[in-house]
Amino acid sequence: MKRLDVITRPENLDKVKRILAKHEYSGMTVTTAMGAGHQKGSLKEFEILNVDLNLLPKINIMIVVLDEDSEDIICELQQGLTTGSVGDGKIFVSDVIDAIRIRTGERGEKLL
Ligand SMILES: Nc1ncnc2c1ncn2[C@@H]1O[C@H](COP(=O)(O)OP(=O)(O)OP(=O)(O)O)[C@@H](O)[C@H]1O
Ligand SMILES: [Mg+2]
Repeated sequence: MKRLDVITRPENLDKVKRILAKHEYSGMTVTTAMGAGHQKGSLKEFEILNVDLNLLPKINIMIVVLDEDSEDIICELQQGLTTGSVGDGKIFVSDVIDAIRIRTGERGEKLL
């Protein structure tokens, strides 16, 4: 299983939900966030020097998917969310070693 943390602009939530639904995933955790990347929160690509860190509103959509689905989903998210402008966001990918459904005690990939 892979965990994807999709950090993107708040207005992109519906687009992410549609892509996940197409792959038949409905489980997700969405957190509102404040963040900065290389431009330190400046909206312009080259105005990064002498700027205090400015945090801009983002959302983090955390989803856990099967290994075999992750590359397709990552690819669609990247293509669906890019505008070419700075601040489009990032997707962080990590391995998930197990999952437990608290109600039943079931474990592993079958939960997804
Ligand atoms: N190294 C990081 N660790 C954790 N979160 C990050 C990191 N880099 C970026 N983020 C998060 O992702 C959000 C979007 O980052 P952003 O798209 O500006 O990245 P970038 O590397 O500056 O790319 P770009 O040049 O396209 O703007 C940030 O506001 C922050 O919440
Ligand atoms: Mg940036």
